Amino acid sequence: MTARPARALLACLLACGWMGAAQADAQAGRAKARMCVVCHGELGISVLPNAPHLAGQPEAYVAAQLKAYRGGARSNEIMSVIAKPLTDAEIADLAAWFASIAIDAKPPK
Ligand code: HEC
Repeated sequence: MTARPARALLACLLACGWMGAAQADAQAGRAKARMCVVCHGELGISVLPNAPHLAGQPEAYVAAQLKAYRGGARSNEIMSVIAKPLTDAEIADLAAWFASIAIDAKPPK
């Protein structure tokens, strides 16, 4: 056996393992997002003037913001409290859910 297939296998194991660890479940995120609906809306279109839309936001961005609120790097009296108890897996699922919502932008009339 040459080094090449072995290296390919190793690369796959690393990549697949990493993907597995980061595997997010958008449907679990949707269920978890019921607690976000009063402010961010049923489908991530905000229903409050001071809450941002989350629909279609990049997954990495949503996850990074939730971790920033949770860790204190970003602070907001509501979101810091909301994010505090979230696990990494819940954050990944929530981010996958909001990122999976299709949005459509149109130029102003
Ligand atoms: C009581 C209202 C309320 C609830 C409930 C709420 N949010 Fe928020 N959320 C806000 C407000 C207000 C902001 C803007 C905070 C700021 O200025 O940093 C915000 C900001 C965010 C942001 C940052 C968005 C950006 O564009 O930077 C994310 C991500 C987010 N919320 C996710 C969630 C998730 C996920 C839940 C449910 C688990 C949730 N929020 C529940 C009010 C709420």
